[in-house]
Amino acid sequence: MSAHLKQDEPVTSNRLDGMKQGIVGQPLSRVDGLAKVTGTAPYAAEYKIDNVAEGVLVTAPITRGEVTSIDKDSVLSMPGVLAVLDDERLTTRAAQGTANEAPKQDPATVCYWGQPIAVVVAETFEQARDAAKHLKVEYRVHEGAPLDPHQVTPEEQDDETVNQGDLDAAMARAAHTVDVEIATEGHASAAMEPHAAIAEWRDDKLTVHASLQMPNYNIAELADSLGMEENDIRLVSRYVGGGFGSKLGISEETVAAAIAARELGRPVRVVMSRQQVFQCIMRRSETTQQLRLASDEEGKLDGFAHRALVSNLPGEEFAEPVLQSSHFLYGGENRQLKLEVARIHRMTAGSVRAPGEAVGMPALEVAMDMLAEKSGVDPVELRLRNIPDRNPEEDLPFSSHKLADCLRQGAEKFGWDSGPRKPRQQREGEWWIGTGMASAARVHNVGEAKARVTLKSDGTAVIQSDMTDIGTGTYTIVAQIAGEMLGIPIEKVLVELGDTNHPRGPGSGGSWGAASIGSAVYVACEALREKLAHRAGTSETELDLRDGSVVGGKSLVELLDGEDICEIGHYEPGDIADSHTASGFGAFFAKVRVNRFTGETRVDHMLGAFGFGRVLNEKTARSQCLGGITWSIGVALTEALLFDPVDGHLVNCDLAEYHVPVNRDVPDVDVLMLEERDPVASPIQAKGIGELGMCGGAAAIANAIYNACGARLFQYPMTPDRVL
Ligand code: MOS
Repeated sequence: MSAHLKQDEPVTSNRLDGMKQGIVGQPLSRVDGLAKVTGTAPYAAEYKIDNVAEGVLVTAPITRGEVTSIDKDSVLSMPGVLAVLDDERLTTRAAQGTANEAPKQDPATVCYWGQPIAVVVAETFEQARDAAKHLKVEYRVHEGAPLDPHQVTPEEQDDETVNQGDLDAAMARAAHTVDVEIATEGHASAAMEPHAAIAEWRDDKLTVHASLQMPNYNIAELADSLGMEENDIRLVSRYVGGGFGSKLGISEETVAAAIAARELGRPVRVVMSRQQVFQCIMRRSETTQQLRLASDEEGKLDGFAHRALVSNLPGEEFAEPVLQSSHFLYGGENRQLKLEVARIHRMTAGSVRAPGEAVGMPALEVAMDMLAEKSGVDPVELRLRNIPDRNPEEDLPFSSHKLADCLRQGAEKFGWDSGPRKPRQQREGEWWIGTGMASAARVHNVGEAKARVTLKSDGTAVIQSDMTDIGTGTYTIVAQIAGEMLGIPIEKVLVELGDTNHPRGPGSGGSWGAASIGSAVYVACEALREKLAHRAGTSETELDLRDGSVVGGKSLVELLDGEDICEIGHYEPGDIADSHTASGFGAFFAKVRVNRFTGETRVDHMLGAFGFGRVLNEKTARSQCLGGITWSIGVALTEALLFDPVDGHLVNCDLAEYHVPVNRDVPDVDVLMLEERDPVASPIQAKGIGELGMCGGAAAIANAIYNACGARLFQYPMTPDRVL
């Protein structure tokens, strides 16, 4: 049985608010937490599968050219070596996530340094790695491939272009203007678990245990790569050790394991090395952004312009959506927005941790800080003055909008001083001290989702979907929703995720996971409640379930009378998404210290205040915010992919050289989550949470650096050499 909900209308009243148990929203610890901390939660490479051969990818040490020969005999006689495969399904970029849109390449064409070109399979990992290192491959190098986005004529992304009113006139007549160029460097997703897959064939059926964010979509990608039917493939991804965009699409390890396992007639595991993950998996594009702001005396915007140059490989569709929130965050009648993509030969650029706003907001919010200074308006007040009533480009209403509340409540909790601001006012020993703030914005996404919920005759429930939990808390929040709706404690809800034998979920990405899968579970539970109400001789709205019983009536076990009942909830975002602008909003406040001799910045304190609809679990939601703010510190101070300007290879390809913030870099962080219900965002009135914490936080730090020591920097990350 299945129940379908296509959301074409706002959902203003919600069953979850009427429930008496109050499980939804509670700060419950993760139901998968114990398995994780005791090491019993299996990650992709850890499944016990007999007779597994080990594959190691061979990657190209050139940026642009062709593979002219692979001398397989050079390694086939080495100990334990079973096969060398250079199957064209592996060597086309067919496995890069955006693959379906990418033009088919000559299989032996190398487009970026580190591109996988073959896989060596051996009895042990060490043997495979050794053979991969010794494999003789010859290349013809194509000289002169563009490596720098500023070297080439970029392509305009027309659907991002806005020309509204007359910006030049607005700039000319403005009381205050800002015209600034700000650059960000590339980022790696830097998930802790490397990309890994174990493939196994039984007859013509393929099972792959892999580390994936979106099995629901990855199954189609893999079927396409292998020329198979989806029905003949099963993907299992029960636990994912972080994805951050890097596992939205399948990558070469998954395809290689599948091809090799078929060829050898035995299971094959392929795990990327940390260096391979950095070199082959997609990057966030570097950006160069220009911001122009024109305001009246009081800082109210009349003109707003944001342009960005990003890069990707030739033929790739994705362009870092830098301007995503710039379209609606602030008012200003006269607007110019433009996004351009330069075609260069770095690895594929794709979604990495809050694609778009993670780098767009840090630039925009530095420009706003400059406008605050020029106009003499307090930075918090300046933002309050420029919040539009409706989307200023599309004249659409906002689904819900908590920016003003976040700014006010965040400022109060942080102890923001709204008095006149001047840099270099406070020093302690060798440290300049300063504060800064910024707005947060991240578009809200949802996706179609299905989940099966079975209420068993013993009064327990089982939730099944191929949805993943990438560390975000999915297992827990869906158990809470079902527990709430069915009146049972979450200990009685078994959650089975990450298996394509179950109904298709939305996958985890773009912060759409919780609202989407949560809505599917909600829809299934509503349908189950209808059935239970029928059995109890009442209506669904009257049905009061608690502690496994109808209040004042029969227990679930009695009602079910030996039967299991089951519903598949099917949620589809409907037209409603076209008639509203839905976004999470928030505000960041930072206090930093900058060393006057070394230029080192330490973040002493950060606070994020956010409004993102219904909070499904206060603890996991807060953890998402803490993670996002931590990534904000990375964007501000430490993270940068560095490419060799001569041959284009990535220089810093491990976690020792690519610096993500670690404990010592992260201060006590305060998170304020505002009470909000968004009737448009999803049937459960929840919006995305995960990524919002890194959409603007870097600017709060940049603005605090300026306030501390007077260094106004236009290049992220703000490393000591740049600060000095
Ligand atoms: Mo996200 S970068 O869409 O996993």
